Amino acid sequence: MIKYIGSKRTLLPVILDAVRAVPDASTVIDLFSGTSRVGHALKAAGYRVLANDHNAYAAALARCYVEADAEDVLADATRLVHELNALPGRAGYFTDTFCVKSRFVHPRNGERIDAIREAIAAKSLPPELEAVMLVSLMEAADRVDSTTGLQMAYLKDWAPRAHNSLELRVPAVLPRSPHGKGRATCLDALDAAALFEADIAYIDPPYNQHSYLGNYHVWESLVRWDKPAIYGIACKRVDVRERQSIFNSRPRFAESLRAVFAAVSAPVIILSFSNEGFIARKEIEAMLAELWRGRATITTIENDFKRYVGAQIGIYNPRGEKVGKVSHLRNKEFVYVVRREPAAASQVGVLPLA
Ligand SMILES: C[S@@+](CC[C@H](N)C(=O)[O-])C[C@H]1O[C@@H](n2cnc3c(N)ncnc32)[C@H](O)[C@@H]1O
Repeated sequence: MIKYIGSKRTLLPVILDAVRAVPDASTVIDLFSGTSRVGHALKAAGYRVLANDHNAYAAALARCYVEADAEDVLADATRLVHELNALPGRAGYFTDTFCVKSRFVHPRNGERIDAIREAIAAKSLPPELEAVMLVSLMEAADRVDSTTGLQMAYLKDWAPRAHNSLELRVPAVLPRSPHGKGRATCLDALDAAALFEADIAYIDPPYNQHSYLGNYHVWESLVRWDKPAIYGIACKRVDVRERQSIFNSRPRFAESLRAVFAAVSAPVIILSFSNEGFIARKEIEAMLAELWRGRATITTIENDFKRYVGAQIGIYNPRGEKVGKVSHLRNKEFVYVVRREPAAASQVGVLPLA
């Protein structure tokens, strides 16, 4: 899986336990799927998963890990990984943009990325197989990148891993769930919430002003392969400026989250949110308590974590000198589980975990 800020890798056991505690649930919708780690774990646990994210690279990850089934794509993907790993490099848009104008990937690997991406495009593969191959390429590029996990900037000197040779691997695609085929969409969360029915809705929105498209623009350009005009030192796609999410707006966040809750038809909502987010726990609990005309039972699970790697490393100026101070090194991730109850009373419970 790619390095992704806000990925719920460490929260997976908590989320899985919360899902398993819902009796008779078979379908889960993940409205902000990101890496699709959560959807992948749920599919592995037997659930039918519908995964949505408004960025194309995340939709490719969802199509690979949630929608595609091993029995349909693995044989072809294995053959293609072997074939594409043998392709010689050939410099093109990726090398020029992300290895010469900027330095996200070493040019030797950039040339191979160009050659492999052009070959995938030329094959006009069926969408699920294409997504599997794009994910294989994205993950291979991520293993040899020269960043701290965000594409707002690259390291001054090549990271040691940037000198390794890019190598495609077959992604861990899972067999189909006994409850039916999963689905991946690339919609605004509000539209996806209104469109799909599920037993449980998992909601993991951005929690601050930083745009995921801006933080992962290299993957967006690699997946879309639209070779867009770029700006700035990080060579961001020009549409990063226009394609904004309302969930990255402090003044609009609460009303947008409320609108997503209202659009969801599932009787159980599981919400992940950090204590560093736009709105505080008390406000979220109050918002959730209003759901379904007050027929909501809320359990809040509190989890204590190390902050992301950038915070651990510290703050540096462009000359590589340590400046300023990181305010704190730990954060709390809350998982709110909300059930629609038949009785007309709402309750709030607290369950401290880690
Ligand atoms: C906190 S991350 C989700 C992380 C994910 N659960 C994981 O484990 O990888 C939030 C995601 O919301 C997506 N997003 C932001 N605004 C959105 C919107 N309006 N509609 C759909 N997805 C959106 C971002 O692209 C990002 O992948």
